Amino acid sequence: MKISLIGAGNVGGLTAMRLAQDNLDEIVLIDIAKGLACGKALDLEDARAALNLDYKIKGTEDFTNIKGSGIIIVTAGLARKPGMTREELLKKNAEITKCICLEIKRLAPEAIVLVVTNPLDLITYLALKNLQFNPKKVFGVGANLDASRFANLIAQELKVSPTEIEACVIGPHGEGMLPLARFTKVKNEPLTKLINSQKIQELAQKTIERGAEVVSLLGSGSAYFAPSAAITEVVSSIVKDKKRTIAVCAYLNGEYGLKDICVGVPCEIGKNGIERIIELDLNSEEKALFLKTASNLKNNLTAL
Ligand code: 2OP
Repeated sequence: MKISLIGAGNVGGLTAMRLAQDNLDEIVLIDIAKGLACGKALDLEDARAALNLDYKIKGTEDFTNIKGSGIIIVTAGLARKPGMTREELLKKNAEITKCICLEIKRLAPEAIVLVVTNPLDLITYLALKNLQFNPKKVFGVGANLDASRFANLIAQELKVSPTEIEACVIGPHGEGMLPLARFTKVKNEPLTKLINSQKIQELAQKTIERGAEVVSLLGSGSAYFAPSAAITEVVSSIVKDKKRTIAVCAYLNGEYGLKDICVGVPCEIGKNGIERIIELDLNSEEKALFLKTASNLKNNLTAL
């Protein structure tokens, strides 16, 4: 399956590398910045012999190369600067996304489109409305990144391997995200049995602030190692039809009592994109928090 990455910045470039090393087919890296995608693609190609791998990668400035893609990953857009929220990027990144959607619609109407550009939930909604594709084929990658961050913090706290943690984060990929302790498991035990609620609250807050913490440490640009890993997790589940449960920013049409909104919820991800949206059995407190954060998101959508 041909996979195109639109945007060859840090996230796009590193995702291309991860996909290539996972042998995920033919990769096309696209960026309007002259030479950027070509340079990164050549560099990645030069690594093949040393890695003893035979992946195919092409860099280009020409959008027509997305033709025939099974998956298109949109990372193009501005990244946060220190002190900025993801929402402050909205206006500029909305314009960029609209232009990209026109090209995708024209050249690759069969593709599954993964949105990574921030503010993620709003840009995913905008992309879906502009593309008018089946909503199961247009969704955002962010909640599994947040879950990976939550898992890392829990792993450090409990001194266990992150591989033994199944972390659950739902809601927007932003300040309103909801790390859910009751649905997070460590060696199959709920987190609520292992850590007291005050500590859980602290870890949840750190998870929410992790993206901004990285932005402020880097000084320029935002995170890319964990984001590219999160994208690769989703792509791999699609390409290999693993039907894994992964939280993604999905279009809801009645699920969780919400309609016409894109927000992070666990979904089964397979060859058709979102195969199934999973409705967690939230308790009244979790439900209230989720509806509140979704309603804030909805207000931002109206502004859009
Ligand atoms: C992050 O959370 C950039 O939104 C991305 O790091």
